[in-house]
Amino acid sequence: MPSPSSDQNSRPLKPIPGSYGLPFFGALKDRHDYFYYQGQDKFFLSRIKKYGSTVFRTNMPPGPFISSDPRVVAVLDGVSFSVLLDNSKVEKRNVLDGTFMPSTSFTGGHRVCAYLDPSEPKHAAIKSFILSVLASKHDTFIPLFRACLSELFTNIEDNIRDNKTANFNALSDDMSFNFVFRLFCDGKPTEHGLGPKANTDFDKWIFFQLHPLISLGLSKFLNVFEDMLLHMFPLPSFLVKSGYDKLYNAFYSSAGVILDEAEHRFKIKRDEACHNLVFVAGFNAYGGMKALFPGLIKWVASGGESLHRQLADEIRTVIKEEGGVTIAALNKMSLTKSVIYEALRIEPPVPFQYGKAKEDMVVNSHDVAFEIKKGEMIFGYQPFATKDPRIFTNPEEFVSDRFVGEEGEKLLQYVYWSNGRETQNPTVDDKQCPGKDLVVLLSRVLLVELFLRYDTFTIEASKLSLGTSVKFLSFTKATMTV
Ligand code: HEM
Repeated sequence: MPSPSSDQNSRPLKPIPGSYGLPFFGALKDRHDYFYYQGQDKFFLSRIKKYGSTVFRTNMPPGPFISSDPRVVAVLDGVSFSVLLDNSKVEKRNVLDGTFMPSTSFTGGHRVCAYLDPSEPKHAAIKSFILSVLASKHDTFIPLFRACLSELFTNIEDNIRDNKTANFNALSDDMSFNFVFRLFCDGKPTEHGLGPKANTDFDKWIFFQLHPLISLGLSKFLNVFEDMLLHMFPLPSFLVKSGYDKLYNAFYSSAGVILDEAEHRFKIKRDEACHNLVFVAGFNAYGGMKALFPGLIKWVASGGESLHRQLADEIRTVIKEEGGVTIAALNKMSLTKSVIYEALRIEPPVPFQYGKAKEDMVVNSHDVAFEIKKGEMIFGYQPFATKDPRIFTNPEEFVSDRFVGEEGEKLLQYVYWSNGRETQNPTVDDKQCPGKDLVVLLSRVLLVELFLRYDTFTIEASKLSLGTSVKFLSFTKATMTV
């Protein structure tokens, strides 16, 4: 197993292979390769093969005219990738989405927490506020999420009964929005002037910010048209402003207690705190869950009846012993926990990470080292780092018990989904997701509810530009109840 740190200096220094091509045309070619001719994984794999290196130079989409500079140094193995987690080495200012930043008019004119570098004093204030909100809601997580899941599974069953299949993504999105709103606000969305499909306003708002990174997978005759529409110029925020304003107003009027705390304890202006809260709820949490849950369900489904039987056994036995769905019970479910880490490893919900070199530095990969100059943009494609064959055996395989036991747990340091190691916790001085523990907790509760209700289930999955689409096809109701 390699050293977890990227700062040992014993490897031979090599020049970084790869090229950016001609100005404008090089970036355009790379964008077309990425979206249309090769696709995401092949784009990176073909370059790893061509250069014989997991570290190389390339342009990353979107390029012209949205990014002012699309040139990056890609770090695609588990060792070199970890430089992106070291905030003493990389600056994370405005790099959440990569080589471009959406207009602040999507967020009331504010640069919200996720775009701030920890060296900016506002980062600590806002992140402390978010961590404190989450801590204050600790006792709500399990009962609220279980109530939301109960509705989700009833909806899935109704849809299968009526239409033979259930669109998991749409139903899960409704559930996630409901959960996030009720977690932060006082009451249900519909009690605060929001319609039953208010989450689609978040969907549009997210799409308008991330469209430069998205391809809709249309027929190839439409590629040029799509490329011009989505990847050349930013879409204007005014087209989604009224939907955003509705959500902002609902949060503003119903999250009073949290906003008071932001103003008085963390000295953040009320409107800035609310725009941050909406971003955390809509982009970070709801947006994260949109990618997380379908991916998790897909991988659990891929284990088939035998994995389902093992999970159901573990979950039902522990809950019986512990007398309910509690944190202590969830902590005892070693296979369930491992399955979730494995899903987060094999398909991290947020696959891209960026950071700008703060100084001239040497970045190690497994056998060699590379010099990166101050100001260069470093880019990590996380699925390759967490499927590094030098760290994980059979990296392309979903190994459900990979993280069980002492040896398995040692591998958690290479699970990076939260923009930090799974063995570390987020602080105000880093950029690790403050929702890390909540996300793992919710994933566990999702599997617990699933296998308390069903013995097994089947789905159909397909790949989307950002994430997975899942349709539930069938389920077998639990033969044994706890
Ligand atoms: C549901 C699945 C989630 C995923 C996959 C996810 C993933 C991530 C990742 C990868 C980052 C780092 C982005 C970067 O700088 O490159 C991040 C940051 C962040 N996440 Fe999450 N997240 C999720 C849920 C949540 C939740 C539930 C919350 C809060 C309630 C949250 C709040 C944040 C915030 C505020 C940041 C910025 C941290 C900072 O600036 O230091 N996320 N998240």
